[in-house]
Amino acid sequence: METGLLHLHNLLRWVILLLLVLSTFNSYTGWKKGRTFSAGDRKIWLFTMIASHLTLLLGLYQWLAGRYGLLSHERPEGVSMMKNPFYRYYQLEHPVNMIIAILLVTLAYGMAKKPLADAVKYKKAFWLFLIALVLILIRMPWPFLPEVGRPLLPGM
Ligand code: HEM
Repeated sequence: METGLLHLHNLLRWVILLLLVLSTFNSYTGWKKGRTFSAGDRKIWLFTMIASHLTLLLGLYQWLAGRYGLLSHERPEGVSMMKNPFYRYYQLEHPVNMIIAILLVTLAYGMAKKPLADAVKYKKAFWLFLIALVLILIRMPWPFLPEVGRPLLPGM
């Protein structure tokens, strides 16, 4: 089960990236073309938020109770989280950065429900989605990263 959850966390990254690119593009074009906010827009934003919250739940499990979890794993003696690039990445940088990104996605979806002019809704959501996308891209464990890199697909 442990491996299955990590594989799912890995796979969901593609769902999030795809939906986040769509949401960023959709809010940008809505803003620039002066479109009326529609149920379709709201749905794309909602699915982006749901995918990110699912990944958050799986990530929280890995962070606390996974192989390198804060509560489940004991670091080798003399190895500190802050001084070791692997532990610093998986126990601090990746989780904290991704939680901030998911918070931004949640705020962006919140724009759909706010009583704002459509242009303002699109504009605010666009910036929030864009920053979330950048944060996710820069703290993804891409395979080319030394020490922390992971495969593009689970089990590769
Ligand atoms: C958009 C959000 C996120 C994305 C795209 C993402 C992506 C990934 C990927 C691709 C891996 C490598 C999986 C593998 O080895 O096959 C990973 C590992 C990990 N993620 Fe995330 N993650 C996200 C959010 C989070 C959050 C919010 C947390 C914690 C609260 C978290 C904690 C972890 C941990 C602890 C690992 C290492 C697990 C292990 O090696 O045993 N992630 N993440």
